[in-house]
Amino acid sequence: MDNIMNVLCTRRTFRAFTQEPVPEDVVTDILEAGRLANCGVNRQSLRFAVASKPEDVAKLCELTKWAAAIPDGAGTPAPEQRPTLYIVVLQDTSVPGHSDIDVGIAVASMTTAAWAKGVGSCIIGTLHREKTAQLLGLPENLQVHTGIAFGYPAHKSTVVPLEDGHKNYWRDENGDYFVPKYALEDIVRYL
Ligand SMILES: Cc1cc2nc3c(=O)[nH]c(=O)nc-3n(C[C@H](O)[C@H](O)[C@H](O)COP(=O)(O)O)c2cc1C
Repeated sequence: MDNIMNVLCTRRTFRAFTQEPVPEDVVTDILEAGRLANCGVNRQSLRFAVASKPEDVAKLCELTKWAAAIPDGAGTPAPEQRPTLYIVVLQDTSVPGHSDIDVGIAVASMTTAAWAKGVGSCIIGTLHREKTAQLLGLPENLQVHTGIAFGYPAHKSTVVPLEDGHKNYWRDENGDYFVPKYALEDIVRYL
């Protein structure tokens, strides 16, 4: 997958994964994408905690809320479909002027680097931050910001036109996702 638009347009969220581990060189690519991401005033306040042992990933998954739009917890990965890699993006609060935009850029870069190698991801904003910090044994200055679950996708995800303002994504009986997105003409104004 070498065309950047193809990578960006197909980089959907995945919540069920095969158990094939993410190779170490791809993990390194993902972390390099985070390390080298643009950041305000080049402040570099982000740190990364990496879990790839199944028992560690399982503990982090327990602290994660999956697929709020899917009823009855059906979007929560079954144990045999959990991510095989979980990276927690941390902010070093001892660095002045930390920024959510820095996190967003790093997360986008990391998930894109992963997808360019066929590794899917789910960005996790709803995680139990206090318990995650305890699990990771973080010092005072490191705050849990966002999680990212990674792995080789075990389902498909397709963008569909957004109709009648309904933005909720859904899943079919195979566990494949459908994600409504606005058309360009709905969201762009040209001068
Ligand atoms: C900032 C942010 C936080 C998110 N948090 C969660 C989350 O806690 N749990 C989850 O299952 N998905 C989470 N997602 C994934 C979104 O639900 C997903 O991006 C959205 O439904 C659109 O699907 P797409 O990524 O395939 O375009 C998050 C995505 C973003 C960008």
